[in-house]
Formats: sequence, structure tokens, C-alpha cells
Amino acid sequence: MTNSLHENLPWVEKYRPQNLDQVYGQQEVVQTIRKLAKDGRIPHMLFYGPPGSGKTSTVIALAREIYGKNYKNMVLELNASDDRGIDVVRDRIKSFASTRQIFSSGFKLIILDEADAMTSTAQNALRRIIEKYTKNTRFCILANYAHKMNPALMSRCTRFRFAPLADSAVGKGIHVVVKEEKLNLPEETEKCLIPLSRGDMRKAFNVLQACAAALDEEGDPITIDMIYECVGAAKPKSIETVLDAIMKNDWTDAYGTMDKVRKAEGLALIDLIEGFVEVLDKYQLKPSTRTSILEGLGDIEYGISKGGSDKIQSTAVIGCIKSSLENEQ
Ligand SMILES: Nc1ncnc2c1ncn2[C@@H]1O[C@H](COP(=O)(O)OP(=O)(O)OP(=O)(O)O)[C@@H](O)[C@H]1O
Ligand SMILES: [Mg+2]
Repeated sequence: MTNSLHENLPWVEKYRPQNLDQVYGQQEVVQTIRKLAKDGRIPHMLFYGPPGSGKTSTVIALAREIYGKNYKNMVLELNASDDRGIDVVRDRIKSFASTRQIFSSGFKLIILDEADAMTSTAQNALRRIIEKYTKNTRFCILANYAHKMNPALMSRCTRFRFAPLADSAVGKGIHVVVKEEKLNLPEETEKCLIPLSRGDMRKAFNVLQACAAALDEEGDPITIDMIYECVGAAKPKSIETVLDAIMKNDWTDAYGTMDKVRKAEGLALIDLIEGFVEVLDKYQLKPSTRTSILEGLGDIEYGISKGGSDKIQSTAVIGCIKSSLENEQ
């Protein structure tokens, strides 16, 4: 790869771990698979967990460690959500698994990414395919949700759960990018970026890249406001302004404030609700009031996801908070 091509890569690709040591967090998974690989006892595997926690990166790094230069001959990467038809998957697996291994011995590895996007019929068919080729291949199935996977398919695999990355792991990734890209990331900004990433390294890297692109001059500091804008999350200060207006002022003023803040910051109602839930932690409320507000907000969130009207759901937010507080007295 030439350097200029490398320069233009999205950072999530540019900084994809090259080996298992560069996979941060996930120590237990990495330790276990490393041991299995060393003993030549790689089973069929299922990696599952939230986006950006390192599933694809880990299996690719593992395959690099096992096969080195032979990677291309020994590893087949399939994306189940592209090639959704099981016939395509079956044909590709068949021709890959049945070519003879000239250069090396051992198992070939088939990586089936985003397998929870497969239909249940396709997953059923996959059970047979796995059994048929177990003699000379191992499968690594990647998914976000274990509950979307066929239980009979899962029972053929050793399961590895990828937890959302710990703050310290996200911090490590951020430090690498900051150093390599010579970013000016003040500590306070970093402290705000890490929790907003919610254990998703991809999100952290994408936000950093967007912020860096928005700088007037290279080397300018990345500010907290820039981070909030890139994430699309509501700033805690704005959330507090709206929440205070709802709690203390009359209905018209509360609605007006909410509308103004939303327009100024381009926030969807759902962003605001997520912000409320975070900020409410800091308010002193009776347990029953807190429960009642959270229950109400939960219902409204569900209503929004079902396509409820924005105006009605917005007024419902105000109603829910106001009535929970009134019941307190
Ligand atoms: N544990 C980690 N250590 C270092 N970098 C990571 C880690 N997890 C994710 N990343 C970074 O985030 C990017 C996305 O990670 P990856 O593709 O492995 O996520 P994933 O778990 O497969 O997510 P998805 O479920 O969305 O497919 C990688 O290119 C890498 O730069
Ligand atoms: Mg992935």
C-alpha cells in the first residue's frame, strides 16, 4: 500500500489492530483464543457483542497470527449481510473448503461476518454446511446479538462474548490516534469523548476524524462542543436548561424552551430523552418520582420508535415530568 493511499483511509481502517496485542480490552477472549491457536485446537467460534468492540478486528488479527503470509489462501471472509442468499454462501464455502492446501497443513478459516443478518432458513442451512466441512475448516461466526442466532447453530460453536469496551481500552485507542495524527486533544475533551463513545471504538475514531477535519488549522485544540456536535448528542447544559424549564416554569414556557433548544442544536426528541435520563442522575428526587419519570420516558421512547407524532410525544415528555413532580407533593 502506498503512503498516500494509507493517508486517505478512514481512521477505523487505518488503525485496525494489526495483531492481537493491539486489540485493547477483551483480554480474556484474546488470551483464550491465543492459547487455543497455539495448541492448534481452534474450535468453531461465535463472537458476539455490540458494534465497535473488536470482533472483526480480533478474528482478522488471530488469522494473521496463525497464517501469516498464507492468509489469502487459508482464510475466507464472507459478509452475511451482503451475500444474504444461502446458496451464494454455500457455493463460496464449498469451493473454498474443497481446494487442496498445497502450502501448509491445518485448518482453513471461514469468517462469517454479521451472521445475525441471515434469515433463519439460511442459518439452518449453515448448520449442515458447518458439519460437512468440519474435517478441514473452522468457522468463526460474528454477530451483534446472540439471541438472533439459531440455537442449534450456536451449540456447534464455542461462544465468546465481546463486552462494550472499558473506558480505559477506548482511552488507549484514542491515545494511539492522537499521537499518530498529532492531534491536540485537551484532557477535558478526552474525558467527555470517552463516555460518549459508550464502549464503541469505531465511534470514538470516527468522531475524532470528523472533529479533526472541522479544525480551522491543524494543531488547534478539539473542543468539547465539537465532540457533542459530531456525536449528535445533546450538551448537558442544554439538557439542564430544558429540564429546569419543565420543572420550574409553566407549560408554555417549558414547551417554548424545549423547542428553542432543539432547533438551535438540531436535536431529535429521542436525543433529548437520552440526555434527560443521563442528567436526572444528578437531580435529587424521591425514588418514586424518579421511577415514575423514567417509566414515562421509557413509554415515550417506545412511542417514538413506533412512529408517534413528534408534537404529541414532546408534550408527553413535559406532561410526564410535571405530573411525576406534582405527585411528589
Ligand atoms: N478492542 C479494540 N482494540 C483496538 N481497536 C479496536 C477495538 N475494537 C474496535 N477497534 C477499532 O474500531 C474499528 C471497528 O472495530 P471492529 O470492526 O473490530 O468492530 P466489530 O466489533 O466487528 O463491530 P461490528 O459489530 O459493528 O461489526 C476497528 O477498525 C478498530 O480500529
Ligand atoms: Mg464487525
